[in-house]
Amino acid sequence: MSTINYSEKIPNNVNLSEDRTLQRALESWQPNFINWWDDVGPEGSTNFDVYLRTAVSVDPNGWAQFGHVKMRDYRWGIFLNPGDASREIHFGDHKGEKAWQDVPGEHRANLRRIIVTQGDTEPASVEQQRHLGLTCPSQYDLRNLFQVNVEEGRHLWAMVYLLHKYFGRDGREEAEALLQRQSGDQDNPRILGAFNEKTPDWLAFFMFTYFTDRDGKFQLSALAESAFDPLSRTTKFMLTEEAHHMFVGESGVSRVLQRTAQVMNDLKTDDPKKVREAGAIDLGTIQRYLNFHYSVTIDLFGADQSSNAAIFYSSGLKGRYEEGKREDDHVLKGQTYKVLEVHNGQLVEKEVPMLNALNEVLRDDFIKDSMAGVARWNKVLEKAGIPTRLTVPHKAFNRQIGALAGIKMSPDGRVVNEAEWAAKKGEWLPTPEDFAFVASLMGRVVDPGKFAGWIAPPVMGINRQPVDFEYVRFG
Ligand SMILES: [Fe+2]
Ligand SMILES: [Fe+2]
Repeated sequence: MSTINYSEKIPNNVNLSEDRTLQRALESWQPNFINWWDDVGPEGSTNFDVYLRTAVSVDPNGWAQFGHVKMRDYRWGIFLNPGDASREIHFGDHKGEKAWQDVPGEHRANLRRIIVTQGDTEPASVEQQRHLGLTCPSQYDLRNLFQVNVEEGRHLWAMVYLLHKYFGRDGREEAEALLQRQSGDQDNPRILGAFNEKTPDWLAFFMFTYFTDRDGKFQLSALAESAFDPLSRTTKFMLTEEAHHMFVGESGVSRVLQRTAQVMNDLKTDDPKKVREAGAIDLGTIQRYLNFHYSVTIDLFGADQSSNAAIFYSSGLKGRYEEGKREDDHVLKGQTYKVLEVHNGQLVEKEVPMLNALNEVLRDDFIKDSMAGVARWNKVLEKAGIPTRLTVPHKAFNRQIGALAGIKMSPDGRVVNEAEWAAKKGEWLPTPEDFAFVASLMGRVVDPGKFAGWIAPPVMGINRQPVDFEYVRFG
């Protein structure tokens, strides 16, 4: 089961050829997917041969193989982690029962909604990133962008497989709709807010892959606990791929900081104007980008109190992050959790039933994980002798969803009035000038081993190749 059959039109490890109806349905979706890729996938990349990894097995040791391929010929396919026939549901009201190999009728609508919502984010990020190849800071970075893009495409396949196999006609319709919605479209946008934002430049891309792909990690981890076994197995394999996306973001921002610190040291200045004149990105701009991407991403976890979250958990559809490592009863009835609310203009903590606060629990897990990487970014500054530190803004800063939406909050956690917000917004969130400045740095550097002036080279290449390897052949 763990080897992948590449002799078929759709590579898979789910014995697709044994289910002719499903195979035909997916084979008829496949050209629509390729059309979508051609229309809104990476711009102008059709003739490029890209040094990509392709999944060849779901064995954690040696699951991928590297080679130059044209992206539209990438072997997108269906790969599930190996199943365990004795697997039991380990949380919620069905705890101790056998995991489901099929969708129970009473959970069908909710499961479909969960799968569609996850599936919608995958093509969305490809759309958001489609112009970035035109302004890549190096071949190495261009290759990483394309790797992320093809894997998001594969993640779409993962969700479409579940829709086709387990949800009949509705599932097929949803699979079509996943190719029809478009990021930022006025009439038919992607489902979640952050996936309709622009990713206009490479600093935004690195912040997106650090923060927003990390939202993916937490959502997929929660779904990997699901009682619906095929969902659990497919999301486990998606997590293997997701790790690289977050690496691209974390190392990307580190390299930007490294370059900025070098310019600051060379010029012995912390004046943002001088840093900019020297062609590097000032720390204030990096902090404002961080504030934006962080706040938009934590909105993705949903309302702080949600009866749906409680239903999803109790019915076994979606667990908590690392459910199996937690030392409680995994049912959570009668337990409470603290959420924030605004009372008379002040933030106050309020205890609410934990089952209703599971979005907040997942958001808090995400926040902890995010902060660890920001601390690693600060090490870059510390090592370079720069006293400034990046910080993550307060959880209530710039929120659009949940009880904190609509209140005005400074990044350091003070409730502020409209006037202060209006006066300080430009210090807290990227301004049109910031975007214009960063855009002005975005040239296109494609000579092997050469890097744009605003970013340091990486320490190592991909798959032990040298940094100046020809990662993309332009054809
Ligand atoms: Fe993904
Ligand atoms: Fe991702």
